[in-house]
Amino acid sequence: MRVMTTEFVICETPDDVARTASDLIQRLCLSAIVAKGSASLAVSGGSTPQAIFKLWQMETFPRLDAVHVFMSDERLVPTTSADSNAGTMLRLWPDVRIANLVLPNMELPESSVAADYQRSLTETIGETPVFDCVMLGLGEDGHTASLFPGKASLSDENLVCVADYGTLPPPVRRLSLTYRCINLAENVIVIATGLKKIHWIEAIRAGVIDRESFPLSGVRPNGKLWFVLDRAAWPEA
Ligand code: 6PG
Repeated sequence: MRVMTTEFVICETPDDVARTASDLIQRLCLSAIVAKGSASLAVSGGSTPQAIFKLWQMETFPRLDAVHVFMSDERLVPTTSADSNAGTMLRLWPDVRIANLVLPNMELPESSVAADYQRSLTETIGETPVFDCVMLGLGEDGHTASLFPGKASLSDENLVCVADYGTLPPPVRRLSLTYRCINLAENVIVIATGLKKIHWIEAIRAGVIDRESFPLSGVRPNGKLWFVLDRAAWPEA
């Protein structure tokens, strides 16, 4: 059995966080491509990944043609909506179309969209999908992906679920990778910046594990858990 390892990378500024996370994700994808011919990457929503998408548009993402790109979580809205994480990614990083981009089908009824995305996931990277890299954010309420405190998605046993909208506007339901799927990954990279994350980073460092009130603490991958943070989120580092 593998034991999870955790590494904290502390950067001076949010720009440094974007640069560092970008380099790390590209390195992890490239080593997967060298080892097995392709890589799988799940990208998250939120403001921090947007800076990373801009970098990936300015500077070519190496061997992007060999990367399967999925969403860690998404609002149940069309990609044309300003609230769509995939839509934001496509606007900021148009070159992502070079990848094998696997997006949820928002034309399906809400009740089918998660099962359909799970099918796409297992057909692309296997019945027991092991992501090479899952990007995650950290919400001010301790949520990650669309796993919000006290919500049913926390105990969903599928690989992908339809989740509540939790605490974040707008009030639309969301799609999320579940703990089961996230925790199979080789690498999970939590990217967080700013003072509002201090409390949660302290809790992680103190070893707090409480999915119900602090969903990020349930992220315990078989592989490696990375935190790429700015100094504001961990001032004493
Ligand atoms: C979203 C994400 C959300 C996000 C966190 C952190 O769709 O917005 O689901 O989980 O990753 O809220 O967001 P920031 O990176 O903006 O702090």
